[in-house]
Amino acid sequence: MNKSGYLITFEGIDGCGKSVQVQRLTEKLDEKGFEYILLREPGGTLISEKIREVLLTKAEEPMTPLAEFLLFSAARAQLTNYTILPALKEGKIIILDRFFDSSTAYQGYGRGIDPDFIQRVNRMATSGTDPDLTFFLDIDLEEMKKRRKKSGKALDRMEDQALEFFNRVREGYQELARANSERFYIIDGKKSIDEISREIWQEIEQRILSAASPTKKN
Ligand code: ADP
Ligand code: TYD
Repeated sequence: MNKSGYLITFEGIDGCGKSVQVQRLTEKLDEKGFEYILLREPGGTLISEKIREVLLTKAEEPMTPLAEFLLFSAARAQLTNYTILPALKEGKIIILDRFFDSSTAYQGYGRGIDPDFIQRVNRMATSGTDPDLTFFLDIDLEEMKKRRKKSGKALDRMEDQALEFFNRVREGYQELARANSERFYIIDGKKSIDEISREIWQEIEQRILSAASPTKKN
Protein backbone atom coordinates (compact mmCIF):
# COMPACT_ATOMS: atom_id res chain seq x y z
CA MET A 1 0.00 0.00 0.00
CA ASN A 2 1.06 3.55 -0.68
CA LYS A 3 1.15 4.84 2.88
CA SER A 4 2.90 7.78 4.46
CA GLY A 5 1.11 8.01 7.82
CA TYR A 6 1.78 6.22 11.08
CA LEU A 7 -0.30 3.67 12.87
CA ILE A 8 0.26 3.42 16.62
CA THR A 9 -1.71 0.74 18.47
CA PHE A 10 -2.32 0.04 22.16
CA GLU A 11 -2.87 -3.48 23.46
CA GLY A 12 -3.25 -5.37 26.73
CA ILE A 13 -5.81 -7.08 28.93
CA ASP A 14 -8.83 -5.13 30.18
CA GLY A 15 -7.92 -2.42 32.67
CA CYS A 16 -4.23 -2.30 31.69
CA GLY A 17 -4.44 1.50 31.29
CA LYS A 18 -4.83 1.99 27.52
CA SER A 19 -7.58 4.60 27.71
CA VAL A 20 -5.65 6.71 30.19
CA GLN A 21 -2.45 6.53 28.11
CA VAL A 22 -4.20 7.19 24.80
CA GLN A 23 -5.70 10.31 26.38
CA ARG A 24 -2.27 11.45 27.62
CA LEU A 25 -0.76 10.87 24.19
CA THR A 26 -3.41 12.92 22.39
CA GLU A 27 -2.83 15.79 24.84
CA LYS A 28 0.89 15.68 24.03
CA LEU A 29 0.27 15.57 20.28
CA ASP A 30 -2.11 18.55 20.63
CA GLU A 31 0.52 20.45 22.59
CA LYS A 32 3.16 19.77 19.92
CA GLY A 33 0.77 20.59 17.07
CA PHE A 34 0.60 17.21 15.35
CA GLU A 35 -2.54 16.13 13.52
CA TYR A 36 -3.87 12.74 14.51
CA ILE A 37 -6.95 10.57 14.42
CA LEU A 38 -8.07 8.72 17.54
CA LEU A 39 -9.92 5.44 17.03
CA ARG A 40 -10.90 2.37 19.02
CA GLU A 41 -11.77 -1.22 18.27
CA PRO A 42 -14.33 -2.51 17.97
CA GLY A 43 -15.84 0.75 16.72
CA GLY A 44 -14.78 3.94 14.99
CA THR A 45 -17.41 3.94 12.20
CA LEU A 46 -21.21 3.85 12.36
CA ILE A 47 -21.32 0.21 11.32
CA SER A 48 -18.41 -0.85 13.52
CA GLU A 49 -20.00 0.87 16.55
CA LYS A 50 -23.21 -1.12 15.91
CA ILE A 51 -21.16 -4.33 15.84
CA ARG A 52 -19.46 -3.21 19.08
CA GLU A 53 -22.87 -3.02 20.72
CA VAL A 54 -23.64 -6.62 19.71
CA LEU A 55 -20.24 -7.85 20.92
CA LEU A 56 -20.19 -6.18 24.32
CA THR A 57 -23.84 -6.40 25.40
CA LYS A 58 -24.74 -9.43 27.48
CA ALA A 59 -27.61 -11.43 25.95
CA GLU A 60 -29.69 -14.49 26.80
CA GLU A 61 -28.20 -16.31 23.85
CA PRO A 62 -24.52 -17.25 24.24
CA MET A 63 -22.29 -16.16 21.35
CA THR A 64 -20.13 -18.84 19.74
CA PRO A 65 -16.37 -18.15 19.61
CA LEU A 66 -16.46 -18.20 15.80
CA ALA A 67 -19.36 -15.72 15.62
CA GLU A 68 -17.46 -13.51 18.07
CA PHE A 69 -14.25 -13.60 16.04
CA LEU A 70 -16.03 -12.91 12.76
CA LEU A 71 -17.90 -9.96 14.27
CA PHE A 72 -14.67 -8.41 15.60
CA SER A 73 -13.19 -9.00 12.14
CA ALA A 74 -16.17 -7.44 10.36
CA ALA A 75 -15.89 -4.32 12.54
CA ARG A 76 -12.15 -4.24 11.76
CA ALA A 77 -12.60 -4.63 7.99
CA GLN A 78 -15.03 -1.71 7.97
CA LEU A 79 -12.81 0.53 10.11
CA THR A 80 -9.65 -0.31 8.16
CA ASN A 81 -11.08 0.32 4.73
CA TYR A 82 -13.38 3.20 5.58
CA THR A 83 -11.12 5.19 7.90
CA ILE A 84 -7.62 3.83 8.59
CA LEU A 85 -6.29 3.32 5.07
CA PRO A 86 -7.48 6.70 3.69
CA ALA A 87 -5.98 8.50 6.72
CA LEU A 88 -2.65 6.69 6.40
CA LYS A 89 -2.53 7.66 2.74
CA GLU A 90 -2.96 11.30 3.76
CA GLY A 91 0.04 11.04 6.09
CA LYS A 92 -1.93 11.18 9.35
CA ILE A 93 -0.91 9.72 12.67
CA ILE A 94 -3.53 7.22 13.84
CA ILE A 95 -3.81 6.29 17.49
CA LEU A 96 -5.74 3.06 17.70
CA ASP A 97 -6.99 1.52 20.96
CA ARG A 98 -6.77 -2.21 20.01
CA PHE A 99 -6.28 -3.76 16.55
CA PHE A 100 -5.86 -7.27 15.16
CA ASP A 101 -3.44 -8.31 17.95
CA SER A 102 -6.51 -8.22 20.24
CA SER A 103 -8.16 -10.94 18.14
CA THR A 104 -5.01 -13.05 18.15
CA ALA A 105 -4.79 -12.71 21.94
CA TYR A 106 -8.50 -12.89 22.92
CA GLN A 107 -10.06 -15.10 20.23
CA GLY A 108 -6.90 -17.09 19.47
CA TYR A 109 -5.13 -17.65 22.80
CA GLY A 110 -8.23 -16.90 24.91
CA ARG A 111 -10.97 -18.82 23.06
CA GLY A 112 -8.74 -21.35 21.31
CA ILE A 113 -9.62 -20.57 17.68
CA ASP A 114 -7.05 -21.96 15.21
CA PRO A 115 -4.15 -19.46 14.99
CA ASP A 116 -3.62 -19.92 11.23
CA PHE A 117 -7.27 -19.14 10.58
CA ILE A 118 -7.06 -16.09 12.86
CA GLN A 119 -3.98 -14.85 11.04
CA ARG A 120 -5.56 -15.31 7.60
CA VAL A 121 -8.73 -13.44 8.54
CA ASN A 122 -6.72 -10.75 10.35
CA ARG A 123 -4.70 -10.11 7.16
CA MET A 124 -7.87 -9.96 5.08
CA ALA A 125 -9.71 -7.64 7.46
CA THR A 126 -6.77 -5.22 7.58
CA SER A 127 -5.64 -5.54 3.94
CA GLY A 128 -2.28 -6.60 5.40
CA THR A 129 -1.82 -3.37 7.37
CA ASP A 130 0.67 -3.68 10.24
CA PRO A 131 1.03 -1.07 12.97
CA ASP A 132 4.28 0.92 12.95
CA LEU A 133 4.43 0.71 16.72
CA THR A 134 2.43 -1.31 19.25
CA PHE A 135 2.45 -0.54 22.96
CA PHE A 136 1.64 -3.57 25.09
CA LEU A 137 0.73 -2.50 28.61
CA ASP A 138 1.30 -5.56 30.71
CA ILE A 139 -0.45 -6.03 34.07
CA ASP A 140 -1.02 -9.22 36.06
CA LEU A 141 -4.43 -10.56 36.99
CA GLU A 142 -4.19 -9.38 40.60
CA GLU A 143 -3.78 -5.82 39.32
CA MET A 144 -6.72 -6.26 36.91
CA LYS A 145 -8.92 -7.45 39.79
CA LYS A 146 -7.77 -4.59 42.01
CA ARG A 147 -8.55 -1.97 39.36
CA ARG A 148 -11.97 -3.52 38.65
CA LYS A 149 -12.88 -3.45 42.32
CA LYS A 150 -11.80 0.17 42.59
CA SER A 151 -13.80 1.29 39.54
CA GLY A 152 -16.92 -0.59 40.71
CA LYS A 153 -18.33 -0.63 37.13
CA ALA A 154 -20.53 -3.48 35.86
CA LEU A 155 -18.66 -5.91 33.62
CA ASP A 156 -19.56 -6.11 29.90
CA ARG A 157 -19.87 -9.43 28.03
CA MET A 158 -16.15 -9.66 27.23
CA GLU A 159 -14.99 -8.56 30.70
CA ASP A 160 -17.23 -11.12 32.37
CA GLN A 161 -14.95 -14.10 31.66
CA ALA A 162 -13.13 -16.45 34.00
CA LEU A 163 -9.74 -15.26 35.26
CA GLU A 164 -8.16 -18.23 33.47
CA PHE A 165 -9.33 -16.70 30.16
CA PHE A 166 -7.45 -13.46 30.89
CA ASN A 167 -4.39 -15.46 31.90
CA ARG A 168 -4.31 -17.06 28.45
CA VAL A 169 -4.90 -13.68 26.79
CA ARG A 170 -2.01 -12.14 28.74
CA GLU A 171 0.32 -15.01 27.84
CA GLY A 172 -0.80 -14.63 24.23
CA TYR A 173 0.21 -10.97 24.24
CA GLN A 174 3.58 -11.83 25.77
CA GLU A 175 4.23 -14.35 22.99
CA LEU A 176 3.06 -11.93 20.31
CA ALA A 177 5.39 -9.26 21.67
CA ARG A 178 8.33 -11.67 21.57
CA ALA A 179 7.53 -12.81 18.02
CA ASN A 180 7.04 -9.26 16.68
CA SER A 181 9.70 -7.42 18.63
CA GLU A 182 10.39 -4.94 15.81
CA ARG A 183 7.03 -3.21 16.34
CA PHE A 184 6.12 -4.19 19.92
CA TYR A 185 7.15 -2.11 22.91
CA ILE A 186 6.36 -3.75 26.24
CA ILE A 187 5.52 -1.56 29.20
CA ASP A 188 5.18 -2.59 32.81
CA GLY A 189 1.59 -1.41 33.31
CA LYS A 190 2.05 -1.20 37.09
CA LYS A 191 4.38 1.79 36.82
CA SER A 192 2.79 5.15 37.54
CA ILE A 193 0.59 6.83 34.92
CA ASP A 194 3.15 9.65 34.58
CA GLU A 195 6.10 7.30 34.16
CA ILE A 196 4.29 5.28 31.49
CA SER A 197 3.19 8.33 29.53
CA ARG A 198 6.78 9.66 29.54
CA GLU A 199 8.06 6.29 28.27
CA ILE A 200 5.45 6.23 25.51
CA TRP A 201 6.22 9.77 24.38
CA GLN A 202 9.96 9.09 24.33
CA GLU A 203 9.45 6.03 22.15
CA ILE A 204 7.14 7.88 19.76
CA GLU A 205 9.58 10.77 19.43
CA GLN A 206 12.44 8.40 18.68
CA ARG A 207 10.72 5.94 16.39
CA ILE A 208 8.18 8.09 14.62
CA LEU A 209 8.43 11.84 14.96
CA SER A 210 12.17 12.07 14.36
CA ALA A 211 12.16 9.51 11.53
CA ALA A 212 10.00 11.59 9.22
CA SER A 213 7.55 14.46 9.28
CA PRO A 214 3.93 13.60 9.92
CA THR A 215 1.37 16.26 9.04
CA LYS A 216 1.29 19.22 11.44
CA LYS A 217 -1.70 21.45 12.08
CA ASN A 218 -1.53 24.87 10.40
P1 ADP B 1 -8.17 0.13 29.68
O1 ADP B 1 -8.60 1.23 28.74
O2 ADP B 1 -6.91 -0.52 29.24
O3 ADP B 1 -9.26 -0.85 29.97
P2 ADP B 1 -8.11 2.27 31.66
O4 ADP B 1 -7.18 3.26 31.09
O5 ADP B 1 -9.59 2.54 31.57
O6 ADP B 1 -7.80 0.80 31.07
O7 ADP B 1 -7.68 2.03 33.17
C1 ADP B 1 -8.40 1.14 34.03
C2 ADP B 1 -8.36 1.68 35.46
O8 ADP B 1 -7.02 1.62 35.96
C3 ADP B 1 -8.80 3.12 35.58
O9 ADP B 1 -9.52 3.28 36.78
C4 ADP B 1 -7.49 3.90 35.63
O10 ADP B 1 -7.59 5.10 36.34
C5 ADP B 1 -6.56 2.91 36.34
N1 ADP B 1 -5.16 3.04 35.88
C6 ADP B 1 -4.73 3.24 34.62
N2 ADP B 1 -3.37 3.26 34.56
C7 ADP B 1 -2.93 3.06 35.83
C8 ADP B 1 -1.63 2.98 36.43
N3 ADP B 1 -0.51 3.09 35.70
N4 ADP B 1 -1.56 2.77 37.75
C9 ADP B 1 -2.69 2.64 38.50
N5 ADP B 1 -3.95 2.71 38.00
C10 ADP B 1 -4.08 2.92 36.69
P1 TYD C 1 -13.46 -2.01 25.56
O1 TYD C 1 -14.54 -1.45 26.41
O2 TYD C 1 -12.97 -1.17 24.44
O3 TYD C 1 -12.34 -2.53 26.53
P2 TYD C 1 -10.90 -1.98 26.83
O4 TYD C 1 -11.06 -0.62 27.44
O5 TYD C 1 -10.31 -3.00 27.75
O6 TYD C 1 -10.20 -1.97 25.50
O7 TYD C 1 -14.00 -3.40 24.99
C1 TYD C 1 -13.36 -4.14 24.07
C2 TYD C 1 -13.42 -5.58 24.53
O8 TYD C 1 -13.38 -6.44 23.41
C3 TYD C 1 -12.26 -5.96 25.42
O9 TYD C 1 -12.71 -6.84 26.42
C4 TYD C 1 -11.35 -6.71 24.48
C5 TYD C 1 -12.30 -7.34 23.51
N1 TYD C 1 -11.74 -7.56 22.15
C6 TYD C 1 -11.58 -8.86 21.68
O10 TYD C 1 -11.88 -9.83 22.39
N2 TYD C 1 -11.11 -9.06 20.41
C7 TYD C 1 -10.81 -8.02 19.58
O11 TYD C 1 -10.38 -8.24 18.42
C8 TYD C 1 -11.00 -6.67 20.07
C9 TYD C 1 -10.67 -5.50 19.19
C10 TYD C 1 -11.46 -6.50 21.37
